Amino acid sequence: MATYARIQDVAQHTGEEVTIRGWLYNKTDKGKLQFLLVRDGTGSMQCVVFKRDVTPEAFEAATTVTQESSIYVTGTVREEKRAPGGYELSVTDFSVLQIAQDFPISPKEHGVDFLMNHRHLWLRSSRQWAIMRVRATIIRAIRSWLDDNGFLLVDTPILTPAACEGTSTLFETDYFGESAYLTQSGQLYNEANIMAFGKVYCFGPTFRAEKSKTRRHLTEFWMVEPEMAFADLDECMRVEEELVAHIMRTVLSERAEELEMLERDTTLLEKIVAPFPRISYDEALEIARAAGESIEWGEDFGAPHETAIAKAFDKPVFVHHYPTQCKAFYMEEDPERPETSLSVDLLAPEGFGEIIGGGQRTASLELLERKLVEHKLPREAFEWYLDLRRYGSVPHSGFGLGIERTVSWVCGLSHIRQTIPFPRTLGRIYP
Ligand code: 4AD
Ligand code: MG
Repeated sequence: MATYARIQDVAQHTGEEVTIRGWLYNKTDKGKLQFLLVRDGTGSMQCVVFKRDVTPEAFEAATTVTQESSIYVTGTVREEKRAPGGYELSVTDFSVLQIAQDFPISPKEHGVDFLMNHRHLWLRSSRQWAIMRVRATIIRAIRSWLDDNGFLLVDTPILTPAACEGTSTLFETDYFGESAYLTQSGQLYNEANIMAFGKVYCFGPTFRAEKSKTRRHLTEFWMVEPEMAFADLDECMRVEEELVAHIMRTVLSERAEELEMLERDTTLLEKIVAPFPRISYDEALEIARAAGESIEWGEDFGAPHETAIAKAFDKPVFVHHYPTQCKAFYMEEDPERPETSLSVDLLAPEGFGEIIGGGQRTASLELLERKLVEHKLPREAFEWYLDLRRYGSVPHSGFGLGIERTVSWVCGLSHIRQTIPFPRTLGRIYP
């Protein structure tokens, strides 16, 4: 009986005969020697087929096998310093499950549209493989940090009766004759949940009908949203920086190999330790203007402003106290300066933009009722949310961290479309 091994575990099988089940990634034909680069999902490994070591049928199969054919390769694991990964398989048997047709993605350059149309196949390539593994580690780091720090996972609905982040980016769907919307954020439900559980988080897909084509926007993206009863804006920032620092530590220690494949400059990531600088919107405005950006007080920052502000720091920077007018209806007003809100965004360095949005929420019933009117939101849909201010309202805060923005930053990617297996953007829902 063959011993099946996964490539990530071959070191434990040095000197033994194992079978790798995978796909042919690349091949070099040296006559009596065939060098097969085989990948199995956990890694890739050089497998050397020497004509005299295998049956004529096996050698013939190894010579003619095509890129991405599914294969079984049996051989002895040997330490080999020169081979990628440090191990090599001296092949004793080789068989093919299916001969792949001409694989559309070859090592040569392809255009982005071509690659996006073949996303289901593109995911097999080494860069995409590395990105998805970093993504999985980021998600695991987030969840384990929250789980270990007193946050309870409480799931929030995907189908919702109302907007959380403005009515202009809602995806509407028919709900048995009524209108329903795909969730933009689990926040409002989190606010109900903290009154039952204290500190919670939700983690799931969120949807925005973003009509702009940018490097930072998806129409379907994943967000983790912690929410805390009795927490103020300062506490909110403290939790954010602890969480982000933990993500960075975890990725640097567990995904060094992947970051190297992505040619990421990890010295920049090593600087991401708490605490992070904190500046007000007013101070950020000065920085943006000094960098030559024109912007009026009261306007929200766009990508060029965020880049200019972030450039002044080598860590993520908190920008707090945004003008009330450019933030969502639920933001608490600063009692000393009601034209500003107890809001905070976290801007990543190197121009990767906003990765977290959050702040302190309105605790008073009267203020919230006024905000709903000012934002022209339908009161009926928010009655339950107003209840939270009727029955034991408390100061509370929370935030949302965008997974894909974080993956872009950690991996150093120029475009958000490579951060999720099957991106949804304006004009793309295939594959
Ligand atoms: O700043 P946003 O809109 O905040 C909220 O949704 C709050 N309700 C969250 C909360 O306080 N619980 O979004 C939060 C983060 C952004 O900082 C960004 O990282 C990401 O979600 N994000 C997007 N990522 C990709 N594509 C989009 N269209 C995004 N919109 C927001
Ligand atoms: Mg935001």
